[in-house]
Amino acid sequence: MDLTLAHRPQSTVCSPKGQVDILPATRVFVRRCFLTLLLPHQRASLPMRSLLIGLTLIVMAIAVPRTAAQKVELSLDASKPGAKIDRNLFGQFAEHLGHGIYDGIWVGSDSTIPNTRGIRNDVVAALKAIHVPNIRWPGGCFADGYHWRDGIGPQRGVRLNPDWGGVIEPNTVGTHEFMDFIEQIGSEAYVSVNLGSGSPQEAADWLEYMTAAQATTLEKERAANGHPAPYKVARLGLGNESWDCGGNMTAEYYLDRMKSFSHFVRNYNPAQMEKDQMLKIAVGPGGGEQRWTDWTETVMKAYQQHTWSWDINGLSLHSYTVVKWPPAFKSVGFGEDEYAQILKTTLDMDDLIKKHSAIMDKYDPQKKVALVVDEWGSWYAPLPGSNPGFLVQQNSMRDAVLAALNLNIFTRHADRVRGANIAQMINVLQAMILTDHEKMALTPTYYVYKMYVPFQDSTVVPVAFDAGSYKHGDFTLPRVDAMAAKSKDGKLWVEITDVDPHQAAEVELAVTGINAKSASGETLTAPQVDSVNTFEVPNTVVPKPISAKAQGGKLLLQLEPKSVTVVSIEP
Ligand code: AHR
Repeated sequence: MDLTLAHRPQSTVCSPKGQVDILPATRVFVRRCFLTLLLPHQRASLPMRSLLIGLTLIVMAIAVPRTAAQKVELSLDASKPGAKIDRNLFGQFAEHLGHGIYDGIWVGSDSTIPNTRGIRNDVVAALKAIHVPNIRWPGGCFADGYHWRDGIGPQRGVRLNPDWGGVIEPNTVGTHEFMDFIEQIGSEAYVSVNLGSGSPQEAADWLEYMTAAQATTLEKERAANGHPAPYKVARLGLGNESWDCGGNMTAEYYLDRMKSFSHFVRNYNPAQMEKDQMLKIAVGPGGGEQRWTDWTETVMKAYQQHTWSWDINGLSLHSYTVVKWPPAFKSVGFGEDEYAQILKTTLDMDDLIKKHSAIMDKYDPQKKVALVVDEWGSWYAPLPGSNPGFLVQQNSMRDAVLAALNLNIFTRHADRVRGANIAQMINVLQAMILTDHEKMALTPTYYVYKMYVPFQDSTVVPVAFDAGSYKHGDFTLPRVDAMAAKSKDGKLWVEITDVDPHQAAEVELAVTGINAKSASGETLTAPQVDSVNTFEVPNTVVPKPISAKAQGGKLLLQLEPKSVTVVSIEP
């Protein structure tokens, strides 16, 4: 009799309509027991029958699994495309904060850590692989106290960084170093100008310094500092959180200042005159309460009546998954309660976008102004022993699921949401990368971004599914989430997140519009909801291959609990 249960968790599958099936070895055992009990020619003695009944019940109890798969039916029609998913939804944010810039990107050219002109090679290689479309810099709150002249030329202005730990800001990384980094990773610059403590003239000079091609004084200064060719500035942030750290302004006061910045801060790069024009992004709301809806109303109403002399192309939205201030949730060493609560909270992003999009629709029905979620992500308690001003946190499987859920929300609003920047890229908040001197670890969130690369500039294909529900304590969440799109090369891609940390999902994907024969891709899961990658053990949460079978015109896919999966569908 084969009582081996070694394969129990993996082989437990669910039969159609939610009935729990048990693994083959167990089935054989149970069948034999029943035969022994029931068939006349196999009758056992009474003690033997009791023993067998007991054993059968025990085996069934063990085998009726905690990981029982639930059937999930999805359907999509590949011939019905929706909005374009702007690659800028996958933007990053790098502020002069903690070890985000220094150590994270910059080590200096005399460092023993392999680098190119002071920029670490390991980080560049990792970021190239996720095709970062743009990086927002130099802040955040830092931007509204930043004076660009401190960061150019041989003599840098050494200042304090009052927002983030009060530490020395050497300004070793300034315009040229940032632009060099951008070029090394093949990304674009999203520069936030100082609208809080700076002047329109200071910002205008910075843009002329960066972008002028004609021989102006500022153009010559840039060339003398090593870069004769104009830089491309793809996106321009007109202040940051001007309702708070950016100057505590009323919406009306901000509007007056912003109009003036919008007019005077010009991009002179000849390559950005016709196509690739720089997008100007105004400060938008930081939540869903009345003061934020009022802010959106004020800015968008003014936009509706704007004249030739000022314009905006985007309105920013900041929203962190924090539950309550100050951030108190642990980033590692937590359980299912915190998993469920954080993920439940992160889903509020959908309502927030809907709320502000509705206001924008009123004043801009043609959706000319993009909603740019240029700060989002998880914000937990600082890691014990770290400088609280450095916003250091670990990044777990929960963050991978959180990232996927938010990216999917953005794609569902892709007609209005045409930019997003997760906070922040390295060593700060929900980072892609953690570094410690020469060591580097890629986080679960990094791998989500890597798996989502095919969705950059793809076209949404609406996918229908019954999400079911995952319940834990007081929290009820959708059990699965899904998104599909056609990539630039015409391939069909599907993402499915299994939010439930216990139940696997038996996915049946009905595809019309193309003749789907198979699907393959990658899945990201982990032993625990709080599993992380560390410098010592960097590969606990890494993607692994997954493939689907075709059966009865459907693709069948087994998803593990708490997993993020991206597959491409082969015709
Ligand atoms: O990302 C950290 C900080 O959060 C940013 O500097 C600020 O804009 C926001 O409040």
